[in-house]
Amino acid sequence: MILAATPCLQIPAPRLASLSPSRREAVIVRLGHISDLHLSERSRYPRSGFTAKDCERYSAKLARGLLEALHEVGVDHLVVTGDVTLSGEAREFERAAELLEAFSAARKLTVVPGNHDLWTEDSVATGRFLRALGPDGRGMRKAAPSYPHVVPLGDDAALIALDSARFGEDPLSTPGRLGSEQIRAARVLVREHHKAGRAALLAFHHHVVLPPERVRSDALVARMPLADADQVVRLVAELPVAAVLHGHRHTAFRVDLPGVAGPTPVLCAGSGSRTSDEPVRRARAYVYEIDRTGIRSVEALVAGTE
Ligand SMILES: [Fe+2]
Ligand SMILES: [Fe+2]
Repeated sequence: MILAATPCLQIPAPRLASLSPSRREAVIVRLGHISDLHLSERSRYPRSGFTAKDCERYSAKLARGLLEALHEVGVDHLVVTGDVTLSGEAREFERAAELLEAFSAARKLTVVPGNHDLWTEDSVATGRFLRALGPDGRGMRKAAPSYPHVVPLGDDAALIALDSARFGEDPLSTPGRLGSEQIRAARVLVREHHKAGRAALLAFHHHVVLPPERVRSDALVARMPLADADQVVRLVAELPVAAVLHGHRHTAFRVDLPGVAGPTPVLCAGSGSRTSDEPVRRARAYVYEIDRTGIRSVEALVAGTE
């Protein structure tokens, strides 16, 4: 498998002129971002509304290749923005934990759940996501509310991981929701970190904004929006959020939201295991270079043809 490293966004040098000389040296932290691995075991399907063919749309091998590439290029931390499984099966979570082990063992991992990780009543009742992975990928003995989960990214940035996944009897039309409590907590955290001179990045599963439909699966994902996306737009407009990272839609894209100090990037990582050949849907991961002013550059690691 060939992996192409594509610098897809370069941002001009940070505005540091007004800072004191001792603060001028920008410290860069490298954050990896991968999403929507949708791991499954083909032999266990059909189940939960999916066919064996649905499993073939995703490849654990592609995901493994991208995770290895992230390891090789060197990242200080990795965030996985949900849908690590296809239907929240126990074996699927085990595979995810195995796949991400190099990062979790090094305490360099943050994971948030996606709607597929809460696909069945059983997966929710057993707290499977939290017990198998949890916010740091190491699993929890007893499932307990764990978000917002805040991770320092060096001294100059912080990742605020939120849980937007909600269970619904019809998963295909169940929206995600952050909820007022998490939104309130996120606002306090963004304020605190900004005051301390750190860039605050938000990460969760669902999209905030969905660009006009390009592929059939976009129509599907439009039925599962983030119910309180308006609150995220408001948060970004009122407080200095450095970036919003998410998945859910299986095509990679970036949109900017108006923020207090200029455009705030909202980055969708697409799927890190999709077997599609279409350039926009090809399996990928991102590497962000971050300093206290926010994201300085974005590099895409794209799975090539085998
Ligand atoms: Fe997904
Ligand atoms: Fe999703």
